Amino acid sequence: MYSWIFDLAPMLNRAMHARDGETAQHCDRVAGLAVRIGEALTLEPHDLLVVALAARLHDVGKIEVPDSILLKAGSLDDAEREIMRRHSVIGESFILKQHEIPFRHEVARIVRHHHEHWDGSGYPDGLCGEAIPLLSRIVSVADSIDAMTSSRPYHPGRTRAAALSVLAAERGTKHDPVILDAYGTLRAD
Ligand SMILES: [Fe+2]
Repeated sequence: MYSWIFDLAPMLNRAMHARDGETAQHCDRVAGLAVRIGEALTLEPHDLLVVALAARLHDVGKIEVPDSILLKAGSLDDAEREIMRRHSVIGESFILKQHEIPFRHEVARIVRHHHEHWDGSGYPDGLCGEAIPLLSRIVSVADSIDAMTSSRPYHPGRTRAAALSVLAAERGTKHDPVILDAYGTLRAD
């Protein structure tokens, strides 16, 4: 429905595919899922547009994460994790500089907060509950679902049922229950 907007930032798309094709494909899927969740929540068309753009660009800050960390197969140590965590703030400032991105101030804010957790344990600002922008909460759920259900070099994708049981355990801690309920109403693909 909103696929045309991704053509507005061809330079960003090319950069992300050149750097890490898996990240770019992940972002495409997260955008589609975020829009479906947004529609289930009966968001206004403007918010659906903003959430689609923010979801597509949520990990654009990973362009500045070194390959040795971004592509590392094993788990990250504390220093590496700290560098990886900077991607949400880097993404925010990167988007603010891209004048061709519609509503870039709104999109950048959503990207900044896409790793905040409902209970305040996320980053970069430790926001909790409804202090986290609604569209960031949607991107967070869509991001988690796609990360769990898609296959990676180091683990096979989980089934939708297995992902739902992980999300149930994260209800009210990592994720907003309202967003999870909206996802639960979606037809399985
Ligand atoms: Fe991210």
